[in-house]
Amino acid sequence: MNIYIMENAQEIGKAVGKLFVDAINKKPDITLGLATGASPIPTYKYIAEEYKKGNVSLKDVKTYNLDEYVNLPKEDKNSYYSFMHAELFDHTDIKEENVHFLNGNAENIEAECENYDDMLDEAKVDIQLLGIGRNGHIGFNEPSIRFSKGSFKVKLTQSTISANSKYFDENPMPTHALTMGVGSIMKAQKIVLIATGIDKADAISAMISGDVTPVCPASILQFHHDVDVYIDKAAASLL
Ligand code: GLP
Repeated sequence: MNIYIMENAQEIGKAVGKLFVDAINKKPDITLGLATGASPIPTYKYIAEEYKKGNVSLKDVKTYNLDEYVNLPKEDKNSYYSFMHAELFDHTDIKEENVHFLNGNAENIEAECENYDDMLDEAKVDIQLLGIGRNGHIGFNEPSIRFSKGSFKVKLTQSTISANSKYFDENPMPTHALTMGVGSIMKAQKIVLIATGIDKADAISAMISGDVTPVCPASILQFHHDVDVYIDKAAASLL
């Protein structure tokens, strides 16, 4: 793992944003795996600004998002579909047919997950962006007794519900989500993980220096050949 300790979230956003812009300019039809949450927002802002300046185009870029809530309408402001449009897609020339999400409202969840995995296998993710949960989750792969392979429906832990319920002011936060599996995440050519703040210090330390165990799903990244970790000093404080 390459560990980059930076001053703050803005500096990380610039560094990771530049990494993505350079990668898109090098391979305009790149396939990106994208994440939600607060961590990637400065990165998405940087990419949108570079698009506005005419320094990058996303017209041939393909994206696959990591996860989506179950039983939350796509149009809800808290769906990850809405998040991605508000934070990135609506500010660029990406084509709607090139953006992909797990459908948390699918009638047949099993078929939906299988179909998403087939699409991922065919598309082959070049760069996967990740955040990390306080409990070491990636995507919505919560601590478990085994590492997941493909996409599946997950019951969210109390830790995740406490961390994310602040966004749900009108309706209660969903208790379940669909997520790409750890096995699928590991298939990406390159992985870039962002974490900031003291709340992430335990998870970052377990991910980098702990045993590789499904109790800390992010620890599997120790087995990937190309991972860049961008953290601030607070998230790095237990290393
Ligand atoms: C969320 C998402 C993850 C994200 C993580 C951290 O629940 N499912 O993909 O990486 O939690 O979020 P944040 O960046 O807001 O701390």
